[in-house]
Amino acid sequence: MLHRTARVVEHTPIADRTFRIRLHCPEIASAIRPGQFVMLRLPNTTDPLLGRPFALYDTLLDASGQAVAIDVVYLVVGKMTGRLVGVSVGESLDVWGPLGNPFLDVGTPDHVRLVAGGIGQTPFLAYARELLGERGFGGDRPRRRAPKVSLYYGVRTASLAAGVEDFRRVGVDVHLASDDGSLGYHGYVTALLAAEAGCGPLVGCGPEPMLRSLMKLAAEWGVPCQVSLETPMACGVGICFSCVTRVKTPDGGWDYRRVCIDGPAFDAQALGWE
Ligand SMILES: Cc1cc2nc3c(=O)[nH]c(=O)nc-3n(C[C@H](O)[C@H](O)[C@H](O)COP(=O)(O)OP(=O)(O)OC[C@H]3O[C@@H](n4cnc5c(N)ncnc54)[C@H](O)[C@@H]3O)c2cc1C
Ligand code: FES
Repeated sequence: MLHRTARVVEHTPIADRTFRIRLHCPEIASAIRPGQFVMLRLPNTTDPLLGRPFALYDTLLDASGQAVAIDVVYLVVGKMTGRLVGVSVGESLDVWGPLGNPFLDVGTPDHVRLVAGGIGQTPFLAYARELLGERGFGGDRPRRRAPKVSLYYGVRTASLAAGVEDFRRVGVDVHLASDDGSLGYHGYVTALLAAEAGCGPLVGCGPEPMLRSLMKLAAEWGVPCQVSLETPMACGVGICFSCVTRVKTPDGGWDYRRVCIDGPAFDAQALGWE
């Protein structure tokens, strides 16, 4: 884990209350892998005191193919993200990472379905690029793991859909849903997915009710499923225990695991959610 002060090199609105921020931090950019995250903290202030976790959206390569910057896409929801909006190009942020684990190995299936709700699409762009062999991360050469990757992406309303063209550009088959019918399928993204005959692994990220529906669907279809959790975190490195979730234990009971160091992605069957 590296702790760096990273210069903001781009900061762009990409949807309603949603921004992409690009941070120059070559060491973190060249080590981080899809599924991992970073903690961001505003420098020179103790308000807010704690950093906040954000998924790797993508990395930027220089002319020689070296990763030099990371992209994070964030939705403004509260204190830190509300202040992050005011950070300008040329200013700096405290960044620590790579944190957590990459997505679990899905093998080499014919088709991987990524299922996102809300701001849950953010970990999937880099992952799709890796699965399709379009880009390598963490120093790896590109290696195709799946010929087809689909994104099922549900938002409350059309104006919140962020980064859809980024996914299409790298060859992802995109299916959209909205709660109010203003974009794509009218209803929950899990209902859109349920209408398809499914095989191959499911990978989810989004609000807990959506993840629960996804896990149920995966059990019905008999397919592997992993979910990446967005549990609030204080330290990101395993010290504070603010991020625990329930997992099943071999004796048939359950125990807590820290999402920051044991996740953020978990096999759905390992989670001890009631
Ligand atoms: C591994 C991981 C990756 C993440 N990746 C992204 C990402 O790529 N883009 C992004 O926009 N967000 C992401 N998040 C969520 C992000 O960390 C929170 O939105 C952020 O911490 C909010 O900070 P804030 O100070 O603006 O809000 P706060 O002022 O701390 O909180 C505002 C409100 O939001 C609620 N809240 C805060 N965090 C969460 C949360 N994680 N889940 C549900 N409610 C919450 C609070 O209870 C409060 O009601 C990720 C979270 C995790 C754990
Ligand atoms: S965030 Fe501190 S232990 Fe997980």
